[in-house]
Amino acid sequence: MYEEFRAKERSGWGSKADYYEHHTARITTQAIPTLLAAVRVRAGASVLDICTGPGYAAGAAHAICARATGVDFAPEMVARAAQNFPDCTFEEGDALALRFSDGTFDAAVCTFGIFHVTDPAQAIAEAYRVLKPGCRYAFSQWCAPNEAEFFRIGASLIAEHADMSLVPPAPNAFDMSDRSHCEQVMKSAGFDEIIITEVPSVYHAPEGELFDGIMKLSVRGAMIVEAQDDATRQRIRDVVNAAAKSHHTDEGVIIPSPCFVVSGRKPEKR
Ligand SMILES: C[S@@+](CC[C@H](N)C(=O)[O-])C[C@H]1O[C@@H](n2cnc3c(N)ncnc32)[C@H](O)[C@@H]1O
Repeated sequence: MYEEFRAKERSGWGSKADYYEHHTARITTQAIPTLLAAVRVRAGASVLDICTGPGYAAGAAHAICARATGVDFAPEMVARAAQNFPDCTFEEGDALALRFSDGTFDAAVCTFGIFHVTDPAQAIAEAYRVLKPGCRYAFSQWCAPNEAEFFRIGASLIAEHADMSLVPPAPNAFDMSDRSHCEQVMKSAGFDEIIITEVPSVYHAPEGELFDGIMKLSVRGAMIVEAQDDATRQRIRDVVNAAAKSHHTDEGVIIPSPCFVVSGRKPEKR
């Protein structure tokens, strides 16, 4: 299901791998300390970073002496991650069908991958499967547009002005922004001790207009805009930049983009 969307996500992230650190990572890395704390990473622990992108969570786990493995389905991301963090292991793989055996890892994290996979419940079930009993998994997820000004402008406004019939069908990325739904999905996968921690992250671009920033940092947003005709693209550019005006500061554009971290424990075997 959602095959066309999935293929476009894969090639879209691949094409962004080389400049990801200057755009998307400026927001996504803000959640990493909370994620690693939630899974209680310790020196020597084996940690799986699912949807690793350029490898930042794996690299941060390695910095505290864990043995980190990162998986991503975009080969360009895997290559970039290996370049960024040569002491970690990275490989191409699908979050929905991990190649690891049951009970392999001491901890697993997924930083902003659940927002992108076509089947979040399956990705969470896979994380559960590859964890050792008694160990923890955590993922970060963006707050929905009604809570996050960045996504009110960068997702809702775009969708409102775009012809969405031109875009391949995709799951609603904000379904998992509902904390009680997350809790339910985690419980169904088998997790207990579920904890949700809010993270007050921000979008910060030192220079430039928000529209250009969104085109550089997002895949889905860019996919929607690129599918439109010239006039619609221009209208979207204008409304997005106008909505962002009040967020211009002496340090550039700063817009609240809060997220939260959901963690859970795979119960010990009885
Ligand atoms: C927003 S990026 C997050 C990257 C990194 N974890 C971070 O927080 O900066 C989403 C990543 O998920 C990867 N991805 C999306 N669907 C995937 C899937 N089914 N399996 C593996 N990786 C996937 C994309 O290639 C992309 O690198």
